[in-house]
Amino acid sequence: MNMGGIHTGGRHSVPLKKPGDSITLVPFGDVHFGDRMFSNSTWRDFVDRYKNRKDVLFLGMGDYTDLMSSSERKAFAKASLDGFHDQSIEFIVDKFRRQVDEFSEAIGFMEGRLLGLVEGNHRLEGDWDGSRRVISSTEYLCELLGCDYCGCETIRTLNFSAGRMRTSFQIAAHHGAGGGTSKGGSLQRVVRWGQDTFPGVDIYLMGHNHDLAVTGMNGMTLAGNGKLRDKKQWYARTGSFVKTREDGQANYNVDAARGSNILGNIEFTLTLKRDTSKGGRGLYVDSSPALKS
Ligand SMILES: [Fe+2]
Repeated sequence: MNMGGIHTGGRHSVPLKKPGDSITLVPFGDVHFGDRMFSNSTWRDFVDRYKNRKDVLFLGMGDYTDLMSSSERKAFAKASLDGFHDQSIEFIVDKFRRQVDEFSEAIGFMEGRLLGLVEGNHRLEGDWDGSRRVISSTEYLCELLGCDYCGCETIRTLNFSAGRMRTSFQIAAHHGAGGGTSKGGSLQRVVRWGQDTFPGVDIYLMGHNHDLAVTGMNGMTLAGNGKLRDKKQWYARTGSFVKTREDGQANYNVDAARGSNILGNIEFTLTLKRDTSKGGRGLYVDSSPALKS
């Protein structure tokens, strides 16, 4: 599956007033805005839940609109060479552009609080803004929203501060791979990717298979004084906003006898706390997940 193969890193500063203050991290993905099976009600609940909150940071996990999958992109490129009229190609691309513009407006309330957008497999490369640059639909969305383009895999470092005290917190996000057909298999793929590639990170996120689930473990570390220090690590699948079946509507998930997932998103409350293992002078970020459906 082609997701562009780009890894990125980025830093964001999160100034808070004092220990005890918190922010909410909201990964959202596999929206498939514009799909026949897009769940308007789940999306409306999502927007209502967060649009007026200033203490939220968002991270897009890919597959924002129902643009072409990897195999469809190949077929489309071939059709372009095989004699589709330019006008027909333009007609199709224009429809997609409207869908991307519409989605950009739908998440406009996130502007300034969006850590970035991860690339998915549903996307299209093209000249989106008439500037003759060929960029992906996700890069175009990032330009519209003024946020970082994350590629399909990213490490986001949040630098928290309260007065002169500082600490950091890391999130690893990948649009998603494999998944397995069982719930355990779905999360196991996240754990394997996380531990094999970036073992010290605090939260690991994958989307793509539309599962909404989380598991955690205590990835203990050693404090400066050589003593054990607890370190929560969370591994999550970030959910979706698209149904797998509806009465009388044809869908490939029905052919494949694929189960339906709970729709919605996951959020993490990140709370700044005093690190007493360092004599009460340091800070750390405590984290706690909740599924929203
Ligand atoms: Fe996907």
